[in-house]
Amino acid sequence: MTDYPTLCAQLEALTDGIDYPIANLANASALLYEHLPDLNWAGFYLRRGQKLILGPFQGKTACIVIPMGRGVCGTAAALDQTQLVPDVHAFPGHIACDSASRSEIVVPLHAGGEVMGVLDLDSPSPDRFSEEDRLGLARFAAILEQAAWLPREV
Ligand code: SME
Repeated sequence: MTDYPTLCAQLEALTDGIDYPIANLANASALLYEHLPDLNWAGFYLRRGQKLILGPFQGKTACIVIPMGRGVCGTAAALDQTQLVPDVHAFPGHIACDSASRSEIVVPLHAGGEVMGVLDLDSPSPDRFSEEDRLGLARFAAILEQAAWLPREV
């Protein structure tokens, strides 16, 4: 179980008054990777036109460009809808950056009313993410959206 209220309070404290989007995303990914058990990747993809480009993350090196609508990240971004995937092998078009990944959750991030990025978490365990994670990460994403998170140039 993750203590999302404390995690969200930490994100608020870390980003408060910080006007550097890359720094805020880097710290946000470190916070998630440290405090959520059983992850093998935590990070961000940022939108440039019809592509998502790799942003700050923790974990193994990852795919750099994901077209909107492709994979779990591109689907979350294109539909503006969180994707909670208990079994990545059963998700059509899943992009396997790390073959160890078995489950995934992707939360869209908005700026100016548009999806401009996603938060992506991967786990080596099947069915790792719950409704509680979905709610907690929605709050986490909402806090990030209030902070400086989107660099002018992706
Ligand atoms: N699995 C993702 C790709 C990004 S990596 O997991 C870091 C997807 O299908 O969009």
